[in-house]
Amino acid sequence: MKVLGIESSCDETGVALVDATGAATPRLLAHALHSQVAMHQAYGGVVPELASRDHIRRVLPLAQQVLAEAGCELSHVDVVAYTRGPGLAGALLVGAGVACALGAALQRPVLGVHHLEGHLLSPFLSADAPQFPFVALLVSGGHTQLMRVEGVGRYELLGETIDDAAGEAFDKSAKLLGLGYPGGPALSRLAQQGDDAAFKLPRPLLHSGNLDFSFAGLKTAVLTQVNKLGDTLPARRADLAASTEAAIVEVLVKKSLAALQASGLKRLVVAGGVGANRRLRAELDAACERRGVRVHYPELSLCTDNGAMIALAAAMRLAAGLEQARRDYAFDVKPRWPLDEISSAESA
Ligand code: KG4
Ligand code: ZN
Repeated sequence: MKVLGIESSCDETGVALVDATGAATPRLLAHALHSQVAMHQAYGGVVPELASRDHIRRVLPLAQQVLAEAGCELSHVDVVAYTRGPGLAGALLVGAGVACALGAALQRPVLGVHHLEGHLLSPFLSADAPQFPFVALLVSGGHTQLMRVEGVGRYELLGETIDDAAGEAFDKSAKLLGLGYPGGPALSRLAQQGDDAAFKLPRPLLHSGNLDFSFAGLKTAVLTQVNKLGDTLPARRADLAASTEAAIVEVLVKKSLAALQASGLKRLVVAGGVGANRRLRAELDAACERRGVRVHYPELSLCTDNGAMIALAAAMRLAAGLEQARRDYAFDVKPRWPLDEISSAESA
């Protein structure tokens, strides 16, 4: 069974084709991505209307590219999957509309997928795929959550951010440091040249006794330092970047370890854009090795938004018998959609 996946929830258009046979982990045949970062850069962030229009321009050429790379025709597609939410409403509507139009034209069923479930399952496409059950640390631009994952569609929320997401903390701090948008990767690169102990920054909720996160105070602390440094900021930028990254990563690592301890599980899966962060990977690897915990990450190219994770999540939900793809081609999107709300009944 070949599943075409379309991702359009934010500022990347992603299309991919996976091949799924029975209960085996689906195989990625090809994927293609167009990032809108350059287009939004001038505005310092994502402009939703521009995002939607660009998805419209990109999605079909990307689909053609994927099919050509996979050596397939449109008629070989068995199911068309798309991101149903959460995300920007207009951007989601493009993917949903195109998926349903393709499905109707090809007389193939379609399936709407939860974006975070895509991230969560994305490590199954890596060479070192995980096994259930595991603790998942979902760290993206919009979400920071710890989940207990028993199987496909069986997600229990253990803790989440009460304000900014980890990716937002990276992006907002990077903006304060004058590093542009999206700042996470840029801040991380600069941090490699800095002293991570140069500035004392807060580790919010580190000792809260629960598994929740808070990053808004960190951004304020970075702003205070930037104001204090004034004209001397350029000379200290790398140190402040390194200190900021260290604060975010320390909280993510300690809370992940606490979640593993509380759940008694020995397997951790890291997913979402911030999962590409080198320091996070290095510190998690070291801490987990000491505790006999296995850590799994998506391939670096599949950490940030992509169509492969959407095709994969659709294929895994279908294989698990959680739902059936639909042929009514009536779609709605869910800009706000907590992951622990999805169940076979709700999304069917
Ligand atoms: O998962 P994602 O592509 O989009 C959402 O679903 O939100 O995550 C994007 C986030 C952005 O905040 C970006 O700055 C962050 O992931 N990010 C990073 C790195 N690469 C991407 N943050 C820190 N270090 C990185 N290397
Ligand atoms: Zn994402």
